Amino acid sequence: MRSAVIVDAVRSPIGRRNGILKGWHPVDLSGHVIRALLDRVGVEGGQVDDVIWGCVSQTGEQTGNIGRFAGLAAGLPDEIPGVAIDRQCGSSQQAVHFAAQAIMAGAQDIVVAGGVESMSRIPMGITYSQGPGQAFGPMVMDRYDGRLVPQGISAEMMAEKWGVSRTRLDEISTDSHARAARAIDEGRFATQIVPVEVKDEETGETVTADTDQGVRRGTTVETLAGLKPAFKEDGLITAGNSSQISDGAAALLVVGEDVAEKMGWTPMARVTHFSVVGSDPVLMLDAPIPATFKVLERAGLGIDDMGVIELNEAFSSVVAAWLIETGADWEKVNPNGGAIALGHPLGASGAILMTRLVHEMARVGARYGLQSMCEGGGTANGTILELV
Ligand SMILES: CC(C)(COP(=O)(O)OP(=O)(O)OC[C@H]1O[C@@H](n2cnc3c(N)ncnc32)[C@H](O)[C@@H]1OP(=O)(O)O)[C@@H](O)C(=O)NCCC(=O)NCCS
Repeated sequence: MRSAVIVDAVRSPIGRRNGILKGWHPVDLSGHVIRALLDRVGVEGGQVDDVIWGCVSQTGEQTGNIGRFAGLAAGLPDEIPGVAIDRQCGSSQQAVHFAAQAIMAGAQDIVVAGGVESMSRIPMGITYSQGPGQAFGPMVMDRYDGRLVPQGISAEMMAEKWGVSRTRLDEISTDSHARAARAIDEGRFATQIVPVEVKDEETGETVTADTDQGVRRGTTVETLAGLKPAFKEDGLITAGNSSQISDGAAALLVVGEDVAEKMGWTPMARVTHFSVVGSDPVLMLDAPIPATFKVLERAGLGIDDMGVIELNEAFSSVVAAWLIETGADWEKVNPNGGAIALGHPLGASGAILMTRLVHEMARVGARYGLQSMCEGGGTANGTILELV
């Protein structure tokens, strides 16, 4: 079968809510990272077959098929299409899957896959609260007997089911902040971040932002212990062991390996195996466990064959449960921090994790890499990459 490769992967710095990216319209932010990606590789806009773009809250500035307008904002010719994907937090991981699968099938040759979310400008959950009507529908509500709950409550259920203590949850968060700070200090993100121009509110001057904004240096288990539960009075999940509300965008160039060779583009990694699974939509956040087992089985590989793993830190309890079930080495998981420290701009996160994964695989020379993330509604994607 034809092989699909990632030639390059870029992302914006991740902004805190109402932080560095709040002045960026999500379509413009999308166009900015796509343009930077194509310029870096030397792709002519007219060569692109499609733009497959993840975005979760598809309303207001993010509505109307944001994938199409992302391409136009990037300066692609009118003839180049685009599509918006919603697989909740895994939307842009799914975008990479669709791109690679289209290429492997021989249906397309050169695809831009990625995603965006501006949670500052389009608040999380607004598509549920604004109506008209209510999500899910009476049949599903009956099926689950009114038990469908918000993600924070599912995160509590995860901690309870796997018997994870508050200290363990906060240890995972502490590691996330420390690793992210180390990655920034060592310049590990320098090859993947596309700087953005932002207006300094105090001086009114335009400055260049090139650093993720969410990291809280000096985070310790002790400082986190003082935070109150965010979702349930006697709960364990706090602002300190949850992913942050953020803004960001990321884009990957996915092409046929034969196309890369013909064009003289140096591939970074092959996208070799995929999984997507569902789990109990009430517990919701455990699906990365079966997604991981399924993708490993399809590849004929074990968890210890993975040199680098990106597992979305939606909540520490998701990571803790996944580590217990897979037996993965925590040192290989999110080595440069995750969504707890760096942020989680929903529709962009799948592509952000994939960008971090492929660059880290290249940095350390890891042959295989794995990505998985939990998704609203109780689904999860799994991807295995192989360094070229
Ligand atoms: C958990 C959540 C509700 C917290 O929101 P919030 O209260 O606005 O969060 P903040 O960043 O303001 O943090 C709250 C407090 O915790 C503190 N805090 C957060 N992280 C901290 C850390 N690492 N160290 C010390 N204090 C920390 C903040 O300083 C703040 O304190 P303050 O109120 O005294 O300023 C929100 O982040 C959330 O919903 N996260 C999950 C997002 C999500 O569901 N994504 C999709 C599914 S994965």
